[in-house]
Amino acid sequence: MNAFNFKNNTLHAEDVALNKIAENFGTPCYVYSKSALTKAFERFNAGFKDTNHLVCFAVKSNPSLAILNLFAKLGAGFDIVSGGELARVIAAGGDPSKVVFSGVGKTADEMRAALEAGIFCFNVESASELTRLNDIAGYMGKIAPVSLRVNPNVDAKTHPYISTGLKNNKFGVAYEDALDIYLQAAAMPNIAIHGVDCHIGSQITELSPFMDAFDRVLALVDALEQNNIRIQHIDLGGGIGICYSDETPPEFSDYAKAMLAKLGKRDIKLVFEPGRALVGNAGVLLTKVEYLKHTETKNFAIVDAAMNDLMRPALYDAYHAIEAVQPRDANTRNYEIVGPVCESGDFLGHDRELALAEGDLLAVMSAGAYGMSMASNYNTRPRAAEIMVDGDKLTVIRQREKVQDLFALETIIK
Ligand code: LLP
Repeated sequence: MNAFNFKNNTLHAEDVALNKIAENFGTPCYVYSKSALTKAFERFNAGFKDTNHLVCFAVKSNPSLAILNLFAKLGAGFDIVSGGELARVIAAGGDPSKVVFSGVGKTADEMRAALEAGIFCFNVESASELTRLNDIAGYMGKIAPVSLRVNPNVDAKTHPYISTGLKNNKFGVAYEDALDIYLQAAAMPNIAIHGVDCHIGSQITELSPFMDAFDRVLALVDALEQNNIRIQHIDLGGGIGICYSDETPPEFSDYAKAMLAKLGKRDIKLVFEPGRALVGNAGVLLTKVEYLKHTETKNFAIVDAAMNDLMRPALYDAYHAIEAVQPRDANTRNYEIVGPVCESGDFLGHDRELALAEGDLLAVMSAGAYGMSMASNYNTRPRAAEIMVDGDKLTVIRQREKVQDLFALETIIK
């Protein structure tokens, strides 16, 4: 059952009507369903229950402490890409020994913090990074556990901005160079080779790119074995898509079956880094219609959420379904749903057939991933509040920012 449903002609999050949330906490706000988050994690995990595995939630997709804490309690590890995300995981009660650290630009400070915390693995993305990590671990008297992130050069068939597994982007090391760099790593005194890592992109809605990438990774694992380098885990990254409109992404169970069939009898732990697939459909952005404006060619619904709150439409032309929280029994019009930010790219949806009046509430659906995490303060707009729903219980998991907070770190030169 979906966590966001209509009851009595009103859209609910679990047992709570979204208009009640707007009344109590104002708009715009993000609303998450605890049961949807929990079920998504449990379903993903279930596919691998008989296998040595670790699900590392990709923090960047939704770094809310409450959400990280929920996943930590369910047994998750975390995929981080910055020292900030490491600090968040620790503050949320996550276990550093279940953290993988990805990203092409890890700084020396970030490496030190991660070594200090005792993370599970560094996903190293270049030969230079490997050298730096070896040096820093040496100074600290530590051994750094590493995987190389290899770029398997497969087409993830997704938006070019979120495709990462092709030759011509900045991520990972070229597949052809991987063996060489592993041999260099094997000779470094403060590096311990633990795994092989890949992540080919995001919002992938077919199984085949994952299968192709896994094939290439396994071929590398075999080549490493022949060179006396024994791999303990394979990290297959994240990337499973969700349904925003009519996409049919692979079911978690089918994904798991396909991956396990490829792994066969090898005694290798599997690591995954799902983000969107665990949180995307567990959150909505609740917003109010401020004004309706009818021009010669267009009808605009100007709402109180904007591109600074949910950047995906402006940045990727991404589609999010938009529902009236209390649909009206009236003639619909074709609306542009836009925010108050002074940019023509500030839209949340084009061509939406809705019957609207000023003051109505809208829910921008599937906004749990890369929504709040990519929000900004553009136009000096405080970031939205975040609310967690659990049955009929509500918790403000992040308060709405105050305008004064936004310039608290600034100084006027006298
Ligand atoms: N692992 C690594 C190394 C990643 O770079 C990412 C996402 C993930 C895991 C999680 O991928 P997921 O399972 O969520 O697809 N802002 C874009 C998405 C950018 C994804 C960046 N990397 C969007 O709003 O669509």
